[in-house]
Amino acid sequence: MLSDTTTLSSYAAPLRAQDFLSAKARGQRLSMVTCYDYTFARLLRASAVDAILVGDSAAMVVHGYPSTLSATVDLMRVHTEAVARGVSTGDFPAPGGKFIVTDMPFLSFRKGVTTALDAAQALMTAGAHAVKLEGVDGHEDAIQRLTQSGIPVMGHLGLQPQSVRAYGGFRVQGRAAAAGREIARQARTLEELGAFAMVLECIPAGLAREVTASVRIPTIGIGAGDGCDGQILVLHDLLGLNLDFHPRFARPFLDGSHRVLDALAEFDRAVKSGAFPAADESY
Ligand code: KIV
Repeated sequence: MLSDTTTLSSYAAPLRAQDFLSAKARGQRLSMVTCYDYTFARLLRASAVDAILVGDSAAMVVHGYPSTLSATVDLMRVHTEAVARGVSTGDFPAPGGKFIVTDMPFLSFRKGVTTALDAAQALMTAGAHAVKLEGVDGHEDAIQRLTQSGIPVMGHLGLQPQSVRAYGGFRVQGRAAAAGREIARQARTLEELGAFAMVLECIPAGLAREVTASVRIPTIGIGAGDGCDGQILVLHDLLGLNLDFHPRFARPFLDGSHRVLDALAEFDRAVKSGAFPAADESY
């Protein structure tokens, strides 16, 4: 049963890249959630959430790697195809669809423009409507060529998980004034290069607010306070499915791991007591 507060919005028009800009101009906040598979994509399609990110966090959340460095173009393509099948209603934009952004994985946009275009081609033909890539310095040419090729690009500044080895861990970025100014500069560069939006990850709330005010394109925050134009969470964090990872910014909107464990315990008891299956569950 859907609760009273659950919106079945399967016939709402899906967002397009240009709608991100107009949403910011109207002051309308944007919600985004990561998704990696068909079943959750079907659920997200029936939700009011604005857009989906097929994040390279798939490497960690779904495949159990310690960082996103293990995500490859092939892995991102497979997850994008599964999500696209889940939200698909035919041609895009179509009633009930969702805007899908897919992460360009580690180094796929750092080896030159042609490699970046090949990676983006694989992801866009898999069903993505846009790609996201981390950072800006040193791959301005790739960002510009992608946007000039009709591929909407979402940036990602602040904590860039693909640089975790350089940081020496997942750490809040931009705390020092100079580091904050750098992030603000990169945000303006991203806008100039034609990005339609950007994720700001794990930076002080005041800096995120400043960056948000300084660009026309929307900022989507994660661990960046309430001053962004939208918010994104990793689906498994949002659903409380992690037993051992509870970052401060990732509010669980469901006690998912305990609900799942309760269901598994109930199933186990029902099997062992002979209560499952019942007569009307048998042929
Ligand atoms: O891969 C991912 O899940 C992300 C979000 C943290 C924004 O990039």
